[in-house]
Amino acid sequence: MTPSPIDPQLAALQSRIDAAVLGPGVEEHGTVSAIADGLATVTGLPGAQLNEVVLFDNGARGFVLTLEEDRLHVAFIDPMDGIAAGARVTRSGELASVPVGPALLGRVLDPLGRPLDGLPAPPCDEHLPAERPAPAIIDRDFVSEPVATGLLVVDALFAIGRGQRELIIGERQTGKTSIAVDALIAQAGGDVISVYVAIGQRMSSVRRVIEAVRARGALARTLFVVAEATAQPGLQWLAPFAATSMAEWFRDRGQHVLIVYDDLTRHAATHRELALLSHQPPGREAYPGDIFYLHARLLERAAKLSAARGGGSLTALPIAEIESGNLSAYIPTNLISIADGQIVTSEVLFAANQRPAVDIGLSVSRVGGKAQWGALKAVAGRLRLDYAQYLEMKMFARFGGFGDEAMKGRMVRGERIAALLAQDRFAPLPVVVQIALLAALDAGVLDAVEPARLPALKAALPARVEAEPRLQALRAQPDALDAATRALLVELVQQALQ
Ligand SMILES: Nc1ncnc2c1ncn2[C@@H]1O[C@H](COP(=O)(O)OP(=O)(O)O)[C@@H](O)[C@H]1O
Ligand SMILES: [Mg+2]
Repeated sequence: MTPSPIDPQLAALQSRIDAAVLGPGVEEHGTVSAIADGLATVTGLPGAQLNEVVLFDNGARGFVLTLEEDRLHVAFIDPMDGIAAGARVTRSGELASVPVGPALLGRVLDPLGRPLDGLPAPPCDEHLPAERPAPAIIDRDFVSEPVATGLLVVDALFAIGRGQRELIIGERQTGKTSIAVDALIAQAGGDVISVYVAIGQRMSSVRRVIEAVRARGALARTLFVVAEATAQPGLQWLAPFAATSMAEWFRDRGQHVLIVYDDLTRHAATHRELALLSHQPPGREAYPGDIFYLHARLLERAAKLSAARGGGSLTALPIAEIESGNLSAYIPTNLISIADGQIVTSEVLFAANQRPAVDIGLSVSRVGGKAQWGALKAVAGRLRLDYAQYLEMKMFARFGGFGDEAMKGRMVRGERIAALLAQDRFAPLPVVVQIALLAALDAGVLDAVEPARLPALKAALPARVEAEPRLQALRAQPDALDAATRALLVELVQQALQ
């Protein structure tokens, strides 16, 4: 007899029937003993696990946030209307999980993968738990390849490597989000997938980010995971973990992902709120004792995987907000110590119109130098020192002029560096253009050029660099810079200045 097409399905069904354990089943029920903003205290359900999804009798869902000996705390992921003390709760047996797969790209989703962009749910066959262990040491490789942000101040001074965790930290309205969004936009047309996670923001702010990414043609390879300020605290809490699982699906298939968490200060506040509601003992600044572990285990998931594990990477740009320049507050110090460096934005620089307002004295990238492109490194070597000296001299210059010619020369050079590092939003500079600008600076070509002319130079240069056939090798692989190519770059800059 020839097997009909439904035979395999029948066989599969039969094997499931054979494997089924028949007999009495146990279903656990619990009871809501107290309810607060976004959080229920539940008694019963002795078998429930951390992060397990539970169902309330009106169909609403929550997940187990904390377990205590005789009760547990459940954070809502659906609206909690109509649920009161005494309501029945059932276990689902499943951990909070997210849909994963290529269908996520180009979408705006909530932390559970539900669409927020008016399109149908993304067609995904697979799911992953929102909380997953970080890759083991043995599965990791050194961070050695760069991620371009298109921002000269970052790529030249604080290069970020694939698999690195670089914190963006500063007061509100100092351009933190803009730096991260520029980094996402710079990935358009490249091999890096972007994920932007909005935690506790107003929808109007998130929409501006989405529009900026869409307008610059980077939407197709970007995923937005949004838990806005009015979303359930449980959803806001889950957002960075859930989005990381979505990103890891790509990482674990050898792809490269850049994820922005905007921002973890809000996430910490949500964690504190939920912890206080569940009567966990408050510690420093009223945060519960596990707040460090919370963000450490999240950011540990950023990694460069070994060749044996496919060689993919997840690079994380967490954002943190500080008040009145206080980098030593509790959450900022935690995040600084977890990350592999920080880009610090400054209110003073922002007010003085230096944008991006990156404080180069306080910023650092602890692994970036090893990951920087060789050709960029070759021209960026003295940049930081020259710029720092200029900033220092500028302070003193207020008390009287410098007579010394060498000093004057340094001031002239410093002014050009400041003008080069200033960059409008949404105008990422290709790496080779960055190299050309710094090579020209180093050769002294820019010293005679008014700083006010440098923005026009930056706008004109990309087309010339792109059109130059002799730069093809450098464009493909900016690993090293020979003398001839360096001279050619300087020449291109000179031509662009004419
Ligand atoms: N490089 C830049 N060039 C021009 N304007 C900028 C730049 N970076 C930020 N801004 C402006 O500053 C405002 C605040 O930036 P944003 O990135 O939202 O700050 P934060 O995330 O720190 O609150 C934005 O509305 C934007 O108009
Ligand atoms: Mg912001």
